[in-house]
Amino acid sequence: MRGIILAGGSGTRLRPLTSVHSKQLLPVYDKPMIYYPLSVLMQTGIREILIISTPEHLGAYRSLLGDGGRLGIRLEYAVQDQPKGLAEALLIGREFVGDEQVCLILGDNIFYGHGLPDMLRAEAARLDGCTLFGYPVSDPERYGVATVDEDGTILTLEEKPTAPRSNLAVTGLYLYDNDALDLAAGLAPSARQELEITDLNLRYVEQGRARLVNLGRGSAWFDTGTHDSLLEAATFVQVLEKRQGIRISCVEEVAYRMGYIDAEQLAALGGELSPSTSYGRYVLELAGAA
Ligand code: TTP
Repeated sequence: MRGIILAGGSGTRLRPLTSVHSKQLLPVYDKPMIYYPLSVLMQTGIREILIISTPEHLGAYRSLLGDGGRLGIRLEYAVQDQPKGLAEALLIGREFVGDEQVCLILGDNIFYGHGLPDMLRAEAARLDGCTLFGYPVSDPERYGVATVDEDGTILTLEEKPTAPRSNLAVTGLYLYDNDALDLAAGLAPSARQELEITDLNLRYVEQGRARLVNLGRGSAWFDTGTHDSLLEAATFVQVLEKRQGIRISCVEEVAYRMGYIDAEQLAALGGELSPSTSYGRYVLELAGAA
């Protein structure tokens, strides 16, 4: 399975923070936002990942993450010229995905939960069609909203419904079989001239091949698109990290625990981060080098 992180868009709701900076490079407490979705893909066992961003910002992602070799993964980069919708990621990534399955994740979505990586790996292994991940919210009218039968097959899927039929919001994490490439190519732009991910997902719903897994109350999901949600996500990370003495979505740690790099490589990464930062010390201690 290949991974795609969509890190473009206009970030209008976060201006002036995003007037010159890319949203997905903004800090979420102690690390750039993109580390969070990158960690999710890495923990799912995906080591070949395409990062898509705007023409102005793609270079910054390349400077930050390079070819991924230092984390034991392979990263490629591609431009989205205009924010023409989430489903365009599958057109841009067509060659990169080839004949594989694909996991698409939005660069501004943060997931955290006990057992989440195991669950994602299991869902990737049983994928047939598309699998979406739902999260119960108090304001479903702001999201794509799904209803499911007792097996998790999606019955209805509506984008920002005025009268939501459930409280299950569709999060920014999508598993697709290879059909998604052709299905995305056949989509017509919506009224706002975007290739809508909900339209793509509806193709699978029509075929009875769309599944929704409820992440449930044991996990956290943040979409960091507004000033408040960005601060809330950062506070959540800060509280958990301080209380437990762990780091959430520390990509160096994930690479080490997944066996993508060894302790020596981890120590080298920690050294570059500098022992004078708590993040650097954490990585060095993990490597047994501090
Ligand atoms: P949104 O939050 O829906 O849009 P945005 O990031 O442009 O922000 P705003 O609404 O404040 O203007 O996008 C969700 C994620 O998808 C986010 O990480 C940006 C990314 N995105 C793209 O990369 N390309 C696109 O065409 C769109 C619409 C979004």
